[in-house]
Amino acid sequence: MSTGIQYDEAWSWRVEAIYTTSDVVAQRQAVLSALEPCPGERVLDIGFGPGFLAREIAAAVGTGGAVHGIDTSESMLALSQRRCAGLPWVALRLGDAAQLPYPDGYFDAAVSTQVYEYVVDVTAALRELQRVLRPGGRAVVLDTDWDSIVWHAANQVRMDRVLAAFTEHCAHPYLARTLVPRLRQAGFTSSRSLVFPLFNPRYDADTYSHGIIDFIAAFVPGHRGVTEAEAQAWADELRQLGQNGDYFFSLNRYLFCVEKPATSLAG
Ligand SMILES: C[S@@+](CC[C@H](N)C(=O)[O-])C[C@H]1O[C@@H](n2cnc3c(N)ncnc32)[C@H](O)[C@@H]1O
Repeated sequence: MSTGIQYDEAWSWRVEAIYTTSDVVAQRQAVLSALEPCPGERVLDIGFGPGFLAREIAAAVGTGGAVHGIDTSESMLALSQRRCAGLPWVALRLGDAAQLPYPDGYFDAAVSTQVYEYVVDVTAALRELQRVLRPGGRAVVLDTDWDSIVWHAANQVRMDRVLAAFTEHCAHPYLARTLVPRLRQAGFTSSRSLVFPLFNPRYDADTYSHGIIDFIAAFVPGHRGVTEAEAQAWADELRQLGQNGDYFFSLNRYLFCVEKPATSLAG
């Protein structure tokens, strides 16, 4: 189960547009090089969204491998099935991260980017992730910590109100800072972690923050007392700062590479 944004058609299209920007393309490259999918492997993408990553994993594992994916959103399923059309070794379906519809030890590797922050019962979801990996299998998990945001505004009080309202878009806006112990408690050993900054010192259509302005302005009205007019004024001010050359945005994503021990830690 998830709280916050439910990815219907309109929200799914917004995400798809943001995920074509150079920032998110570079993030996917970082995830792929951390995951290192190999020819012939069976890989799971939990919360595949618009399916960009699933398609790239499919190219890496090739026809002798398999990519499976689950997501709770029918619109995301439609988008990603279109994106992965013609790749019969990709199998995408509706499903919940907290109740994975696969047998124990089924996957060589799994990935989940920007998903666990939406999942109410993260503990159950990480336990499921561990269950479906084979002993010695690996996983890559990436999430945001929204406290890491630095976004310049002339009206800082309004910026703080809007960002506070936006934390309601998901169940755990600060999840990343607790993922190390959570992954350990789920039975993983940690091999590597890194921070992936989204840094936009310029207002540019090919950036993450350019796309997220409309995304946030569409979400926040009605949350924590933010009005439609306030959200629009907030967005207009950012565009104006951008045109004046006074723009600054930075946000961190945190990536964790973990392994399921070859012999069970649970004993
Ligand atoms: C921000 S998008 C990330 C998409 C994709 N992983 C990526 O990074 O390109 C979040 C996705 O998580 C999915 N999601 C949210 N809660 C979920 C859950 N409990 N189980 C599976 N997917 C979930 C949403 O439907 C959405 O597609």
